[in-house]
Amino acid sequence: MASSLSVLVILCLAASASAQLSPTFYSRSCPRAMATIKAAVTAAVAREPRMGASLLRLHFHDCFVQGCDASVLLNDTATFTGEQTALPNVGSIRGFTVVDNIKAQVEAVCPRTVSCADILAVAARDSVVALGGPSWRVLLGRRDSTTANLSLANSDLPAPTLDLANLTAAFARKGLSRTDLVALSGAHTIGLAQCLNFRGHIYNDTNVNPAFATLRRANCPAAAGNGDGNLAPLDTTTATVFDNAYYTNLLARSGLLHSDQQLFNGGATDGLVRTYASTPTRFNRDFGAAMITMGNISPLTGSQGQIRLACSRVN
Ligand code: HEM
Ligand SMILES: *[C@@H]1O[C@H](CO)[C@@H](O)[C@H](O)[C@H]1NC(C)=O
Ligand SMILES: *[C@@H]1O[C@H](CO)[C@@H](O)[C@H](O)[C@H]1NC(C)=O
Ligand SMILES: *[C@@H]1O[C@H](CO)[C@@H](O)[C@H](O)[C@H]1NC(C)=O
Ligand SMILES: *[C@@H]1O[C@H](CO)[C@@H](O)[C@H](O)[C@H]1NC(C)=O
Repeated sequence: MASSLSVLVILCLAASASAQLSPTFYSRSCPRAMATIKAAVTAAVAREPRMGASLLRLHFHDCFVQGCDASVLLNDTATFTGEQTALPNVGSIRGFTVVDNIKAQVEAVCPRTVSCADILAVAARDSVVALGGPSWRVLLGRRDSTTANLSLANSDLPAPTLDLANLTAAFARKGLSRTDLVALSGAHTIGLAQCLNFRGHIYNDTNVNPAFATLRRANCPAAAGNGDGNLAPLDTTTATVFDNAYYTNLLARSGLLHSDQQLFNGGATDGLVRTYASTPTRFNRDFGAAMITMGNISPLTGSQGQIRLACSRVN
């Protein structure tokens, strides 16, 4: 009786331990994993600074759909539809070639050991660091899905047309707080957006700096279908530096997306935007903490899922 009880206790401990991510998950099984990923990310960002933004966004778009399980990386096949053609992703999400290249290098040093979901989490952190932003200890031990979900990608990834209440609700559904929403939106201090995603904001919203609207209208015609893919920086001041200028832009009503400016529009998040604009150390700390929280969304652990051999297809 006593021994069967202790077996049960040990089994329960093992189950809960395997459900817990850890910063040292690969320190014995693949001690070179972190350095291999970092070198590849640093090289890719040096080649093209925007790639840092694209890799950061990939982790977000992974975690918000079925959890952080690399589902976003799966290609469509004849019998399987992935997430890449979902509205928030199609013609927009990028970085797959870089991830495939990182995975090939990691497989070369440690075969069948490091998940694609963990590669995305580490690459997001290394991208932020490569562009001058804060660092944090990435938790590891995620495994890769054997499925993807197009309809969940359409429903769970927030649209740039959402108001503050809807953004707050979309994050709350993933267990993320209003502070997480405001801090993580600071990711828009890097990267680019297409005209079709900010046209309504610069032509029709009232909470926009007129000079900023004029500047962005110059390369984003009012008529739908004209210049839809024309790009503008999400951070109008320092697009390739991970700093807190996103928030100073919001104070100047120069957020590019409707959803960005919603964070400073007379509502409950105005105070936090002011804090991050004035105190970069607070932003850096909260951003790292929020990235860890986002990285904890429903991971597959233990014997769930698999370690994919190539990130774009199931084994
Ligand atoms: C709060 C809700 C959010 C909305 C509505 C949103 C929406 C968008 C949109 C519409 C774009 C431009 C896509 C395009 O035009 O091709 C974009 C780009 C981007 N987003 Fe977000 N986003 C949100 C939150 C986040 C979060 C939480 C992160 C990461 C932590 C993030 C990281 C990025 C990055 C880095 C880019 C630029 C990507 C590139 O240049 O390749 N976003 N986002
Ligand atoms: C996608 O997720 C929805 C909601 O959880 C579920 O009803 C549906 O069966 C899933 N589709 C696939 C292809 O897994
Ligand atoms: C946005 O939120 C309002 C209530 O605050 C709700 O009625 C509406 O359905 C939401 N819209 C979306 C697209 O979620
Ligand atoms: C602005 O709003 C009007 C009225 O709703 C709409 O007809 C027009 O298409 C909008 N323009 C843009 C650029 O979104
Ligand atoms: C997934 O799609 C990309 C882009 O079409 C392609 O380069 C890559 O080889 C594909 N992966 C597999 C495993 O077929």
